Amino acid sequence: MVRVLFVCLGNICRSPMAEGLFLHYIKDAGLQDKIRVDSAGTGGWHVGERPDARMLETAKRHDIPLPSRARQAKANDFEEYDYILAMDESNLDDLKRLADSSTNPRAQLFKMRFFDVDAPDTDVPDPYWGGDQGFEYVFQMLDRSTQKLLTHIRSEKEI
Ligand code: 4NP
Repeated sequence: MVRVLFVCLGNICRSPMAEGLFLHYIKDAGLQDKIRVDSAGTGGWHVGERPDARMLETAKRHDIPLPSRARQAKANDFEEYDYILAMDESNLDDLKRLADSSTNPRAQLFKMRFFDVDAPDTDVPDPYWGGDQGFEYVFQMLDRSTQKLLTHIRSEKEI
């Protein structure tokens, strides 16, 4: 089983959308039994919450279910997951610190847009404080990035 974790700040906007899109492409490829997916936030303010209403609306418009309930990322995630995807540079810094406090880290840590063919290695901007169009913009970059990530994992893990 390959395990993939998407991480943002609050776990109610960007990483739940990445999780939902990735699940969609996994199902399309018939790989539900081979790849497990979750999302988490570096912060704990929204633990237990469903995604932000604006992100749920964006996902619904594109027919993508978002099953997420917010949880906080923890050091142990670096032992349990194979791939951890940080939405932006600040998430990446926080995750590196968590990895340092993990006893036996094995996850590969990437920035999500390392896999975006249009703008590789830039940040997925936080849409939380902005207008509605920010959510669609984030959706589009996550749609590109999750497809490329799946191609990468399939080739690396030969599945
Ligand atoms: P996310 O967006 O990291 O994409 O889930 C945010 C959600 C909530 C907050 C910040 C970012 N907040 O400060 O509560």
